[in-house]
Amino acid sequence: MTRKNRLPKFPDDYIDTKAGEYDSSKSMERNQKRSTLLSIQYLFDNKLNDKEETIVQKNDSFLILDLGCGTGFSSEILIEHGFRVIGVDILIDMISRVREKKRIYENYKDIELILADINFLPIKANIINHIISISSYNFITYGKSNYGEKVKLLNDTAKYIKQILKQQGRVIIEFFPKDDKELNIFNKSFINNGFEGFMIKNNPKQKSGQTFLLLKKKE
Ligand SMILES: C[S@@+](CC[C@H](N)C(=O)[O-])C[C@H]1O[C@@H](n2cnc3c(N)ncnc32)[C@H](O)[C@@H]1O
Repeated sequence: MTRKNRLPKFPDDYIDTKAGEYDSSKSMERNQKRSTLLSIQYLFDNKLNDKEETIVQKNDSFLILDLGCGTGFSSEILIEHGFRVIGVDILIDMISRVREKKRIYENYKDIELILADINFLPIKANIINHIISISSYNFITYGKSNYGEKVKLLNDTAKYIKQILKQQGRVIIEFFPKDDKELNIFNKSFINNGFEGFMIKNNPKQKSGQTFLLLKKKE
C-alpha cells in the first residue's frame, strides 16, 4: 500500500495540526461526502424493506445520528438533505471545528453536537430514527488489543445502539475492516444483537477495504 493510500491512524491523524489538515483537505471532503450520499441511498434501500409491513421511505423530519462526525463533512450532507442531525465525536480537536461552522454558517445552525465516545453514548432510549457512521466505526475498538475484549465492546455498543433507535430504525456503517476476521466481528456484533441486514463492498473480491453494513433493527 502506498503512503497516499494508507489507512489513517487514530487518534494521531485527527489531533492538533492534523485536525486542521483533515478539515482543509478537498479530497477528504469529497470522499466523505461521496460515501455519505451513498449511505443515504442505502438507508432507504428496498432490500431492507423485505419483511417490513410499513415501507421505510425518506422523511425530512428524521433525526439522524452521525457517529464519529469528525469536522462535519458527512453531517453537512445530511443537513442538506433536510434531516435533523446529532453529531457525536470523541475528539475535541475535530468536533470543535463543527462548532465553529455552526457559529458561522446558517445551514449548520440546527445541528446538535455531543463530545462523547460511540461506546458510551449519552442518548436516551427510543429517540433516534436512523444512524450513519462514515469512516469512523473502525476506530471504536482503539486500545483493545485482546480479541475477546474487542468482541465484548462491539456487542455492548450494538446493543446500546439498538436501544436508542426507534422502531424500524436503520444503521448504515461505512468502514474499512483490515481483514475478514475484523469484518466478521463488526458485522456479527449487529446480527447477534437484534439487527438484520447485509453488506456491500466496493470490490466484492476484496478481503479488506471500503465496506458498507446495511442494517435494520428487528422488532
Ligand atoms: C475519518 S474521521 C471523520 C469522518 C466524518 N464522517 C467526517 O465527515 O468528517 C473519523 C472520526 O471518528 C472519530 N472517532 C474515533 N473513535 C471514536 C469513538 N470511539 N467515539 C466517537 N468518535 C470516534 C474520530 O475522532 C474522527 O473524528
